Amino acid sequence: MLTSLKKQPADRIIGLSALYNADPRQEKIDLGVGVYKDAHGNTPIMRSIKKAESHLWKTESTKTYTSMTGDSGFHNAMADLVLADSVDRDRLSFCATPGGTGAIHHVLELVKLTESNPKIWFSDPTWGNHLTIAKHLKMVVGKYSYFNNETRAVDFEAMVSDLSKISNGDIVVLHGCCHNPTGANLNNEQWNIIADLLLEKDAIPFIDIAYQGFGEGIEEDAFGTRLLASKFPEMFIAASCSKNFGIYRERCGIVITVSKNPDISSITQGNLSYVNRQNFSFPPDHGARLVTMVLTDPDLRADWVSELEQVRVGMLDARTHLAEALRKECNSNRFDFLEHHRGMFSRLGATEEQVNKLRDKFGIYMVFDSRLNIAGVTLDKVNTIAKAVIEVGI
Ligand code: LMR
Repeated sequence: MLTSLKKQPADRIIGLSALYNADPRQEKIDLGVGVYKDAHGNTPIMRSIKKAESHLWKTESTKTYTSMTGDSGFHNAMADLVLADSVDRDRLSFCATPGGTGAIHHVLELVKLTESNPKIWFSDPTWGNHLTIAKHLKMVVGKYSYFNNETRAVDFEAMVSDLSKISNGDIVVLHGCCHNPTGANLNNEQWNIIADLLLEKDAIPFIDIAYQGFGEGIEEDAFGTRLLASKFPEMFIAASCSKNFGIYRERCGIVITVSKNPDISSITQGNLSYVNRQNFSFPPDHGARLVTMVLTDPDLRADWVSELEQVRVGMLDARTHLAEALRKECNSNRFDFLEHHRGMFSRLGATEEQVNKLRDKFGIYMVFDSRLNIAGVTLDKVNTIAKAVIEVGI
């Protein structure tokens, strides 16, 4: 039977990490997969997480199952973090998932259970896994314009024009903040315009928020999500704790849905239980428990907020340094967009050939579409990266 399996294409982000690991060059630089690194190139465990873990080890008295959609303490803590008081709690339903990717998958499975067969619209470009999960689930996918490759900013006019053509009941996936892969984001005024447009089109927003706290700040980064939650009768959210709590391998994410009323949210909750049960039964708890402890203990929370802010500011510094080095190297300000982008990524706007040359000649690894992980741009590497970028003709 297995002989009839076809070879699957390698994931282009994860495949890049394998290439990087196999590269014997000492001076290689990893600007690929979206994992935060500090100035020494390490991905540290956050202090608050370590403290919570130590406390948990001492106090946890059972490893029995939680509920089918995870612990209600986690649901509430994440609702506070992502939505604050933008929407009545009794309209929300929750499902803890293995990572933000699990949450994206589950939202789409939930949509399938509605049997309404809507088109799912993604930004062009978007995180590659969005498209492959939707295709894997045999859903109808559309793309709306998002990024202007010349200005490296959001092409808002084209975005509005494309979204004006969608049908009612369609689902529009929006990155809550820190757009992956471009780093170009909607401003608050643009969020308002998109909200009104989608309301007029009777579309359903689906927010993927995986980098809250990496852009403008924890509260600021939730602006769009909270705005939509305050306006729409129905909405989907997939939130990840991988990056902002640094617990990648714990696989911690959550689905939050907004329903029209508490009766429907209770049915939605039952359907989320069903989706978990059919996929893997109970969700992982360890990461979710740590996040809950950090968010609900005032001291741990304060420490987390301050460390996350340090991470955010560190990435802003890296943006400034790289833009400055490139300014010197090419004698122009054409890379200043790096300073306007936010989050872990920026899309350089290079060709795949140039990206390959950076890898082969200089050992600098970025994703094929020229997305670079800004956290990999440590101070000691800025000039090397800038020189190489100019030398390959970007
Ligand atoms: C990324 O975009 O690099 C991260 O979200 C990691 C992944 O799974 O692709």
